[in-house]
Amino acid sequence: MESNRLLQMLLDHPGQYISGEELSRRLSISRTAVWKQINKLRQDGYEFEAVSRKGYRLIHSPERIHGEDVLSRLQTVTFGRQIHVMDVVKTTQDEVRALAEQDAVEGTLVIAEEQTVGRGRQGRKWYSPSGKGIWMSMLLKPRQPIAFAAQLTLLTAVGVCRALRKATGVDVGIKWPNDLLIEGRKLCGILVESISEDELLKYCIVGIGIDVNQQLEDIPEEIRSVATSLRIESDSKQDRTLLIAEILYELEQLYNLYNEEGFAPIGHLWEALSVTIGRQVLIRTPQGESSGIAIGLDPSGALLITDQHGQERTIYSGEIQL
Ligand code: BTN
Repeated sequence: MESNRLLQMLLDHPGQYISGEELSRRLSISRTAVWKQINKLRQDGYEFEAVSRKGYRLIHSPERIHGEDVLSRLQTVTFGRQIHVMDVVKTTQDEVRALAEQDAVEGTLVIAEEQTVGRGRQGRKWYSPSGKGIWMSMLLKPRQPIAFAAQLTLLTAVGVCRALRKATGVDVGIKWPNDLLIEGRKLCGILVESISEDELLKYCIVGIGIDVNQQLEDIPEEIRSVATSLRIESDSKQDRTLLIAEILYELEQLYNLYNEEGFAPIGHLWEALSVTIGRQVLIRTPQGESSGIAIGLDPSGALLITDQHGQERTIYSGEIQL
């Protein structure tokens, strides 16, 4: 690829300017093509200084996530112990599915720098630009009935929320069922996909997408009012490797807690971190719209609301508008 060759030329001349003309001549491409390749590399996190009559100089390369670095930070027994870090994939969900079909062990983790077809809930697309976020999926094999998958999404939201708060100090909260928000803007989405056999889960793929180091200009204008990143909210660049290790630690602790004590303690932790409870909510469910005050979770993890007639209602799935 031309951008690789261009990058290599700049890397071979650390601290030096190379003119657009020379780049174009050495790579046998037009000046416009040089400019386009520079912009593509900028989108991937490379930073250049461009000075007229001198040319381009590489001043910053993006950090990559390295499997060995994650492993060296891990405090877990199984989560993330088998790790695959990939550059570009369609979606880490499908990578884990393929590994699961080849009998990968519980806790196997796939991290990608970029996803070209990132998947969100309810068939939505998940924008996953290179080097800026955490796009990862983990394989779990809970020997539980199918209904556990819904509780696992809540458990994951609690784990990620605790890890982000601990590592960055930002005031992250959970919107039912599993979006993480800061002051109403989303910065993390969770997608749990599961395969079952005879009423029992065969395996679950826990997908986590976190906007970490995007700056305001990296967030598409049409979603700036509803989306944010850890960097924007904390005013500092975040170490993705450290965050991943922290998230896996929290998730493993909660998963063990679930296996020992069931969903109740997880439900309480979820309620404590929730920005939904106590609020008037409008919920779009497959059966239509419902509104009321969110009052808590029921023992299965469904949302309890009190409607305008004072009736308690249970919402099993849907999308909330706060
Ligand atoms: C949502 O809020 O709609 C859920 C978004 C989940 C995104 C993550 S990123 C890693 C994993 N791979 C995907 O394609 N999706 C999940």
